[in-house]
Amino acid sequence: MEEQIKAIVGKYYSEAEIANIGIFGRRVIVTLQNAAEDSAKTEAIEKEVKTLSGIDKVAVIHTAVRTAQPLFEQPQKWQIRGVKKIIAVASGKGGVGKSTTAVNLALALAAQGQKTALFDADIYGPSVPTMLGYEGTAPVSYDGKTFEAFEYQNIKSMSIGALIDRETPLIWRGSKACGAIEQLLTEVNWGEIDVMVVDMPPGTGDIQITLSQRLNFAGAVIVSTPQDIALIDAVKGVNMFRRVDVPILGIIENMSYYLCPHCGERAEIFGHAGAKETAARLDVPFLGEIPLHMDIRAHADSGRPIVSAAPQSAHAKAYMDIAAKIVSALNRG
Ligand SMILES: Nc1ncnc2c1ncn2[C@@H]1O[C@H](COP(=O)(O)OP(=O)(O)OP(=O)(O)O)[C@@H](O)[C@H]1O
Ligand SMILES: [Mg+2]
Repeated sequence: MEEQIKAIVGKYYSEAEIANIGIFGRRVIVTLQNAAEDSAKTEAIEKEVKTLSGIDKVAVIHTAVRTAQPLFEQPQKWQIRGVKKIIAVASGKGGVGKSTTAVNLALALAAQGQKTALFDADIYGPSVPTMLGYEGTAPVSYDGKTFEAFEYQNIKSMSIGALIDRETPLIWRGSKACGAIEQLLTEVNWGEIDVMVVDMPPGTGDIQITLSQRLNFAGAVIVSTPQDIALIDAVKGVNMFRRVDVPILGIIENMSYYLCPHCGERAEIFGHAGAKETAARLDVPFLGEIPLHMDIRAHADSGRPIVSAAPQSAHAKAYMDIAAKIVSALNRG
């Protein structure tokens, strides 16, 4: 099957431009690298691949190539005092549960003895203050130059939300947003930190690329829901970090299945295991699945995420298992 698809794509693009052909059950994702986007070619490929038996859906994705030579000069990394390792929690698409995952993972890392910090870099919708229960609290500065990190539930944290008014739409773009993030990150007294978790803005645009170049990331975790559309964006997320040479620690499938809070019945409303298959295809680790459950939402909304509020629960354990995998990957690397 892969050969047949390759033959079709090969009519329009050279072998060097075909980065990957992913077959996930009845759907196919063709990833092209460094090729000019051409909607006529995309349509032709989609149409022809769909005629193969057993294939219903086809998506053609364009990414930039990862070469031995860096595509651009490696810019200077931001220096964050006292912080040993930094990991990104990212998603190609908004609303997949990136912040919920970042907060619970940070708490799980702390519960495993890591001195942990959580930095909320999501300029579009900073939600860490709400999830950790310090919404509306202004950061303290003793010397008029630096801020003290918030210390809630055993982790240090700071949010870009501390600088912006929640009700005002954010009008910063590109370099201004990145400048604000750099300033905040470098002007906070973090103390001694083993792992800093960064809740990234969703997507793979300029701001996200700049952050992944400037922050000295030890690795990135990609959060996705099981739907095709989210998975396509997860692939983009993986490719973005690869492009700037940030190792991928793995993919997490969030809202993996629905667990009824009343009867405990499990329903796979968005399909299942798509993230696991995508991870295998991209040759990156699959870190685990988190169900869609009311308790996870309710605890995060109330400012005490489930890993803090119910550390013995099955959901907290799922985050703890993922955190353990992250710690061992960081220790290996
Ligand atoms: N596993 C889950 N079970 C139940 N609810 C969840 C789960 N994960 C996230 N949610 C809920 O889904 C909503 C979106 O989650 P969250 O804010 O973490 O997503 P996000 O990817 O950070 O979104 P954004 O792109 O807006 O920053 C929130 O209300 C959150 O409580
Ligand atoms: Mg968020």
